[in-house]
This record gives sequence, structure tokens and C-alpha cells, in this order.
Amino acid sequence: MITGKTAVVGLIGNPVGHSLSPPMHNAAFEFLGLDYVYVPFQVENALIEDAIKGAPSLNIRGLNVTIPHKTSVLKYLTALDKPAELIGAVNTIKFDEKGSKGYNTDGIGAIRALEEVTPVKDKNVVMVGAGGAARAVAFQLMLSGVESLMIINRTPEKAQRLQQDIEMKLEVNISSGGLENLRSAVSNADILIDTTPRGMYPHADDHPVLSADMMHGDLVVNDLVYNPLETVLLKEAEKVGAKTVSGLKMLIYQGAEAFKIWTGKEAPVDVMERALLNVL
Ligand SMILES: NC(=O)c1ccc[n+]([C@@H]2O[C@H](COP(=O)([O-])OP(=O)(O)OC[C@H]3O[C@@H](n4cnc5c(N)ncnc54)[C@H](OP(=O)(O)O)[C@@H]3O)[C@@H](O)[C@H]2O)c1
Repeated sequence: MITGKTAVVGLIGNPVGHSLSPPMHNAAFEFLGLDYVYVPFQVENALIEDAIKGAPSLNIRGLNVTIPHKTSVLKYLTALDKPAELIGAVNTIKFDEKGSKGYNTDGIGAIRALEEVTPVKDKNVVMVGAGGAARAVAFQLMLSGVESLMIINRTPEKAQRLQQDIEMKLEVNISSGGLENLRSAVSNADILIDTTPRGMYPHADDHPVLSADMMHGDLVVNDLVYNPLETVLLKEAEKVGAKTVSGLKMLIYQGAEAFKIWTGKEAPVDVMERALLNVL
């Protein structure tokens, strides 16, 4: 029951109506008996400063941040954690007496999802896509000590810009290229991560970025798309016996990290997963 003592956390974005975070976090609060509630707030671009500066006055304890505000919030925060600073984007904010600190848990969420199946340290990774999600995942892969990363994108210049941006900030083994490089890159890779929306509902029957004949059985294949749960890419991966990681796991673990930042408690990830499966 919501009372005068209930702690409020939530999500700012535009739109927010589609978000799966409210059921996921509210199920976790209820399971642990924490007096918290998670509320979505639709915030127009022009009002983002008001939202961030006004949140503490409403005693809001924390926020998730989604499109289109992940970078525009940066200048209104008093501190950033290392991944958020490197990535240049924030998906979680904690408000307390020290101020407003921004975090980026997207990349950590992706790594925790992969590490259910394989360690990432010293692995050779191929990542398809060079957008916002790719940026968060790429920086976190670097912080996690991968051996190498190749970024492949439909627009190769964008992959190259991401490569250069990472190289300016970290000393790492990284390369980039267009989709024509995918077959040879994957033949030497341990992990393939698809960060493009290919195969996402309502286009679940789209051709995947690569097919089974370009994969091998020792590969771990991670699709960030979580609707459908088993994408056409993951189906292709299973044909060659590759291990697969659904995008649902990243969604859960980025939420679990935010949950811990706000509450100081480990999130009940099984409860969060069940809540998501119920609404998907
Ligand atoms: N599981 C999770 O928790 C989670 C979290 C975040 C995002 N996601 C998912 O990740 C995906 C990407 O999100 P984002 O925010 O990074 O998007 P974004 O910034 O728009 O980037 C999309 C990337 O995908 C490429 N792309 C788009 N359509 C393509 C196609 N038909 N074929 C090949 N490449 C294509 C784009 O290439 P160009 O540069 O050539 O346009 C770009 O590099 C979405 O499906 C999103 O739902 C999942």
C-alpha cells in the first residue's frame, strides 16, 4: 500500500507508456517488502532541467532515464560514475543529500547477462550496430577486459566514430568495419552481440544480420532485442549449437543494478524475470 512514507523512484523518458520497468521494479519491491513504488513520468525535452532539478524537492529517490533524455540529463547532475562518464549517457540517477549522481547500468546489464553463459575477460567480441545501446555495451566490454572488439555497422563511418571515441578514452584492441566484414570477423570470435533492432516485433520475420552458415558452435550469441524472446538471430545460432543470450537478460540486469543503487539491496532477479514474462 502506498502511504506517506513510501519512497518514490521512477522513469523519465518520452514516450514511457511502453516501458516494462514499472512492473519489473514494483514486483521486486513487493517481493522484498520494501516500501518503494516505481512510477513512469513522461517528460518533454524542454522540461528535462525542471524534471531533474525538481525531483529532489518531491523527495524522489531515484530515476531511470530513457530515450530521448539519456545524454541531455548529464549537465544537470552533480556527479557521474565511471561508465556513465565514459559512455556520455546516463540511464539511472540517485538523489540524496550529496546531490544527484548519474550511472549507466546498460553496459553492466549486458555483461552480467553474457556472464551467465561465458566470462567476457580475454574474449574476442564482434558487435553489430553502433547506436546508443552499442556504445554502452562497447565501453563496458572494454572495462571488463575483453581481448578485442570489432564493431560492425551498416553505416561503417558510425562504427569508426565509436571506435575512435573509445580509443581516445581507453587503451584497447578495437577495430571497425561494414557488414561485408561480418563473416570473417565472426569466424574468429568467441562472442557475437547484435545491438541492431533487426528481428524486433513487429518485424520478427526480418532476415537476421547473419545466418547460421556464418556462425560456429563455440560462439555465444547475444541479441539485445527481447521482443520476441527468441529472435530469428538466436534461432539461427541454435542451428549450429551456439549458446544464446536473450535481450531480456540485459533488461533484467540493467534494472537489477539500478535497484541496488537506489535501495542498497541485491535485486531478486528471478522475480523481475517472472514479472517481465507475465507482461511480454
Ligand atoms: N535488452 C535491453 O535491455 C536493451 C537495451 C537497449 C536497447 N535495446 C535494443 O537495442 C536495439 C538498438 O537500440 P539503440 O538505442 O542502440 O538504437 P539506435 O541508437 O537507433 O542504433 C541502432 C543501430 O542499429 C543499426 N540498424 C538499425 N536498423 C538496422 C537494420 N535494419 N540492419 C542493420 N543495422 C541496423 C543502426 O545502423 P546505422 O548506423 O546504419 O543506422 C545503428 O547502428 C533496439 O532493438 C533496442 O530495443 C535493448
